[in-house]
Amino acid sequence: MPTKDAKAKSIIDSIMYSYSTSSNPYEEENRILKETVNRLKEEIERFKASPLMVCEIREIFGNTSIIKIPNGNQFLVNISTDCEKLKPGELVLVEQKNLTVIKKIPITRRFNVEKFVIVEKPTITWEEIGGLSQQVEEIKEVVELPLKKPELFKKIGITPPKGVLLYGEPGTGKTLLAKAVAASTNSTFIEVVGSELVQKFIGEGAKLVKEIFEFSRKKAPAIVFIDELDALAAKRIEVGTSGEREVNRTFMQLLAELDGFKPLDNVKIIGATNRKDILDPAVIRPGRLDRLIHIPIPSREARLEILKIHSKNMSFDRVINIELLASRMEGFSGAEIKAVCTEAGYFAIRGNRTFVNKEDFLKAIDKVKQEEEAEGKDYVGMFG
Ligand SMILES: Nc1ncnc2c1ncn2[C@@H]1O[C@H](COP(=O)(O)OP(=O)(O)OP(=O)(O)O)[C@@H](O)[C@H]1O
Ligand SMILES: [Mg+2]
Repeated sequence: MPTKDAKAKSIIDSIMYSYSTSSNPYEEENRILKETVNRLKEEIERFKASPLMVCEIREIFGNTSIIKIPNGNQFLVNISTDCEKLKPGELVLVEQKNLTVIKKIPITRRFNVEKFVIVEKPTITWEEIGGLSQQVEEIKEVVELPLKKPELFKKIGITPPKGVLLYGEPGTGKTLLAKAVAASTNSTFIEVVGSELVQKFIGEGAKLVKEIFEFSRKKAPAIVFIDELDALAAKRIEVGTSGEREVNRTFMQLLAELDGFKPLDNVKIIGATNRKDILDPAVIRPGRLDRLIHIPIPSREARLEILKIHSKNMSFDRVINIELLASRMEGFSGAEIKAVCTEAGYFAIRGNRTFVNKEDFLKAIDKVKQEEEAEGKDYVGMFG
């Protein structure tokens, strides 16, 4: 009943009022100060507490366990009684002095895989690739077809290659091709850089490789693009230092993963390297990256196509003889042809124009050529 409620409220109000007026203002202040002191004491305790170390459980024996501390040493330690049930491989927090296991931390993965890979859905189309028609056909056959029509392979009774290796000079379009095939199959593009897989501690690189493959299976259909494969898969001339052994171990794990997944698993591997000559033949053995696709420096016709692609949106004052320009770019890679277009644009900007003319292009070609030559000299200088 509203009247009754109102009455009750007024009684409560009067009690509250009388309570607050009757309490001494000093008492109130005292209470607040005490609270503050307590809070600060707690804070000091927090500062004094020693940090717990993150370790990995190796083996469990009743209420003791073998743990591996981050520097690699292993110890047999006690498990605190109120710690939940543990399994080997899990990460736990241990006390620093006696290494008693205090509690489990709810992350089982060692790496945040997404920190080591670049994941994207590329939008590159085949039309944006100039002059590599034969290579495009081949990559379509090996990567696109099995992803799009797996039943075809089942019917014929063959297993498609698990992956391909693209090799060739820098800037010739290897990354571009891999992205285009990911876009055309609507796959997740997972880019890994070979040198980043090499970790500091023993066994970590191998674990990372394993987790990247697990991750890619979850994201299937997916294309795993391993750039700079030579950092990992270089021929093992001499396995001396422990660092080399770690690279080797990571590489072995990569091979094991390549062997492990099924050819129709909806995950395809594309490796890329500038140095096929130093690659370990184990990685290109049939059943692994068994198709090798050479991506050459563009021919004259290819240069023309690439130039057309990159100058498509540029404004010219009058028709430019693109064929002449293409013939002047002997030996240029796709990336260099793109650089020529950008540089030509800059010459126009410097000349206070909003269109590009033939002279801009000729100057740009010279500039890119000079840069290339200078680089070449540095390179020679570096190796005597
Ligand atoms: N055939 C091509 N058609 C159109 N553009 C190209 C072509 N080749 C290279 N390019 C241009 O050059 C850029 C660099 O190419 P890309 O990254 O694919 O080279 P890469 O072969 O992966 O080089 P690296 O070995 O140095 O990694 C591309 O973004 C693209 O703009
Ligand atoms: Mg690349």
